[in-house]
Amino acid sequence: MDIKALAYVRIESTAPSRWETFATEVMGMVVAPQHRWGDNLYLKLDDYAYRYCIVPGQQDQFLCAGWELGGPEAWEQALAELDAAGVDYRRGSDEEAQERNVAAFVSLRDPGGQLLELCLQPRLDYLPLLPKVPVSGFVTGYHGDMGLGHIAMATPCLAETRSFYVDLLGFGQTDYLTVPIPGEERPHGLHFLHCANPRHHSLALYEDSQPHPGNLVHLMAEVQSMDDLGRFTDRVHETGTRVITGMGRHTNDQMVSMYVETPAGFALEYGFDGVQIDWRHYTPTESTTTSHWGHRWGQG
Ligand SMILES: [Fe+2]
Repeated sequence: MDIKALAYVRIESTAPSRWETFATEVMGMVVAPQHRWGDNLYLKLDDYAYRYCIVPGQQDQFLCAGWELGGPEAWEQALAELDAAGVDYRRGSDEEAQERNVAAFVSLRDPGGQLLELCLQPRLDYLPLLPKVPVSGFVTGYHGDMGLGHIAMATPCLAETRSFYVDLLGFGQTDYLTVPIPGEERPHGLHFLHCANPRHHSLALYEDSQPHPGNLVHLMAEVQSMDDLGRFTDRVHETGTRVITGMGRHTNDQMVSMYVETPAGFALEYGFDGVQIDWRHYTPTESTTTSHWGHRWGQG
C-alpha cells in the first residue's frame, strides 16, 4: 500500500472555541478561509485547505488520523489489499467525503481499536498562511507532501498494531526505541514508522495498556525556524498553557521541541529542525534514549 502522508486529524471537542484560541493564538495556525461544514472548526497550517478538523461533541478526544494514498491507482490498490486481507472497512458517503474535503475515504480500526481513515486527494487551497501571531510557517514539504506532522498513539498490542501498519498499510520502520518506565520491570517499546515522504516518522506506536488523556500520546507540528519555536515558548507562558515537558532535542529525529497540553488533554509537540531522510539509503535503528538534552517533565 502506498500511503503518502498524514493528511488530516479529526478531534472531538466539548468547546471548539478553546481549540480555535489554542491553534490560532498559541500555535500560529489559522481558521480555514475556504472550507466550512456545519459546526465543525477547520484549522489550516499550509497549502492544504485544512489539517485539523475539530468536531463538536460530548468528549474531548482524538478521533482519528486521515492517511493520504498516493493517487487513484494507489487508492484502488489499497482497497484491493484490504479486501484480500479480509479487513473490515467502511466506505465513506459522498457527503462525508465532501465534509472532509477529499475525493473519497474509508474508515477502519487498527488492532488496538483506534479508528483511522484512508483518503484520496485531500484538496489544497494554496492560500498563504496569515497567522495572528508571528510564525514564519510550518514544515510540511513541497505543497504539503510531507503531511501535517506526526502522531504518537498508545496501543495495548504493540506487535499486532505494528504489523497492521507495516505489513498491511505499507509503513516503513524507522526506529525501535525502548523507554524505561520508573517502577516497571521492563521498558515500554516505541515503534517509529514513516510513509512515502522524508519525515523521520509520521506515526509512533507506544506500548501501553493504559488509555492516554484525550486518546492520544501527542500530535506534532514542526515550524521553520528556531525563533518560531522560541516565540511559541513565550506565548505558552503568556497564555498560561500547561507545559508537559520543557524544550529538548530528540535523539532519533533530531527534533528540538517542547510539549504542551492541548484542549483535548493530549500533548502537542511543537518542534523545529527535524531530520529528513532518503529512505533508499536507510537502515532501521534501535535506540534506548529519547533525548540528547532537555524534555524534562513539567519544566518550561
Ligand atoms: Fe513526537
